[in-house]
Amino acid sequence: MPAYPVDLTETWDGAGETLTVRPIRAEDAPALDAFFHRLTPEDIRLRFFAAVRELSPALLGRLTRLDYNRDMAFVAVREATTQIGDGDIVGVARLVHGYSPGEAEFAVVVQPDVKGHGLGVHLMRRVLEWGWRHGVRRVVGEILTENTPMLELARFLGFQFHHLPGEAGIIAAELDAPALAAA
Ligand SMILES: CC(C)(COP(=O)(O)OP(=O)(O)OC[C@H]1O[C@@H](n2cnc3c(N)ncnc32)[C@H](O)[C@@H]1OP(=O)(O)O)[C@@H](O)C(=O)NCCC(=O)NCCS
Repeated sequence: MPAYPVDLTETWDGAGETLTVRPIRAEDAPALDAFFHRLTPEDIRLRFFAAVRELSPALLGRLTRLDYNRDMAFVAVREATTQIGDGDIVGVARLVHGYSPGEAEFAVVVQPDVKGHGLGVHLMRRVLEWGWRHGVRRVVGEILTENTPMLELARFLGFQFHHLPGEAGIIAAELDAPALAAA
């Protein structure tokens, strides 16, 4: 397993406060669980396509213990005022290698109090840039047709959309690597 890519850490000031944006790590499991419990049932349904009540330890492990050669997730952290390192996760975007070579699937969620400030776009851009530099040629995902904010965000980032046969409530979104990255 590759080392923790600490060089990908940055600070981001878009939401009227300074957040640390960095790759997720195994020690984030408790903070990710606490973040999950700050989401609304509606946000959880839009993200997981189901009324997920708990993140199992196994799922938390899969979401935080990554092979950074294959997958990536960036978290936005509101650092604790006391000491660095045990802040609150307020947003996460991830890219997971798919079944088809060069294809990866995205997911993104930010907590209610930081919505509408560009954090969703910023976290998505970080994982997309990482993807293009790590052999990803196409990023895909499924979005519920009722999920206007995510459809707008994806449109904003240049994703193309198409309907899935027999899946009225879901839209497939895909984005190909920019020409330079694809060269
Ligand atoms: C979708 C989501 C990640 C957007 O995060 P966000 O930080 O609020 O988004 P941003 O501020 O970066 O918004 C970027 C763009 O997305 C679009 N957007 C975001 N919120 C929007 C809204 N309520 N209505 C319309 N467009 C919206 C806009 O184009 C926006 O650009 P703008 O600032 O010009 O309006 C957030 O609403 C969320 O976590 N939703 C629940 C989980 C979810 O749906 N995940 C995606 C599953 S596929």
